[in-house]
Amino acid sequence: MDGFSHPSRNAPDAPWHIGVTSKSPHSTVTAKLINGRAIADSVLSEVEAAVQSRLANGQRPPGLAVILVGDDPASQTYVGSKRRTCAKLGLHSQAFDLPADASQADLLALVDQCNADASIDGILVQLPLPPHMDTTSVIERIDPRKDVDGFHPYNVGRLAQRIPALRPCTPLGVMRLLGDSGIAVRGKKAVVVGASNIVGRPMALELLLAGATVTVCHRFTTELADEVARADILVVAVGKPGIVDARWIKPGAVVIDVGINRDAAGKLVGDIDTAVAAERAAWITPVPGGVGPMTVAMLMHNTLQAAELAAGR
Ligand code: GUN
Repeated sequence: MDGFSHPSRNAPDAPWHIGVTSKSPHSTVTAKLINGRAIADSVLSEVEAAVQSRLANGQRPPGLAVILVGDDPASQTYVGSKRRTCAKLGLHSQAFDLPADASQADLLALVDQCNADASIDGILVQLPLPPHMDTTSVIERIDPRKDVDGFHPYNVGRLAQRIPALRPCTPLGVMRLLGDSGIAVRGKKAVVVGASNIVGRPMALELLLAGATVTVCHRFTTELADEVARADILVVAVGKPGIVDARWIKPGAVVIDVGINRDAAGKLVGDIDTAVAAERAAWITPVPGGVGPMTVAMLMHNTLQAAELAAGR
């Protein structure tokens, strides 16, 4: 599925613009855009239907606690979107806002309270936490069965051992984008740029689980251009515009841009120059409207999954 694709420009004999060295306003776009909004909508419809059927069977709605500490504007935006989507789908949403100077003990007590609350199936603590807090011990305090972010070492370990339970939302969303677009992963060379706990590492595990040969690039990688040039599937999740030069991309590659940045003019941009990348790639995710909407959609999916697991299904 790709609501933005242009079949006439994606004919098998369409020329690749190999060796493009500069962005040209007249260049032909070759890549098909992966429409993350449309795919996220289909995930949300599935979740909504499952919530309705739970209610019709006399069950309670899945419940999600979203905890925000402090007033970081980007975190407020993300949390607002998560809470609104819950409400739209009929999930039970509990909002907890702690001040930036809340103590670690306050936050741990709130996590304990949510762990013990039978109306809450999922607990999300928005990251990053203020610097005086210890993120690891907060994540480890969440009951792994309610860890809808999939960040608890239990869930990361399950994914690493090929027995996934609750899986990190953004990488899971990327896998859904690939699957719904009919893009095969098995046997492909996948390169992940960025090794964060939220995206890069679990992304590598997801691609490995799906049968790709995976390379992870990070701050100590010495030949980034060479690594990128080998990728059939390239996932960039660094949060720095231009970290990957779009001219390095292998012609015909699938390019997944997880970055969400603001340029000097305040416009949302990814980690790659989409216009230049689209001249080389076969498929590409736009920013905005690519990976971004999938994170929230998969969070709703995970909350439903946690509720179903709690009910013994
Ligand atoms: N901060 C940025 N992305 C995420 C995410 O997926 N989950 C949480 N909890 N915090 C984030």
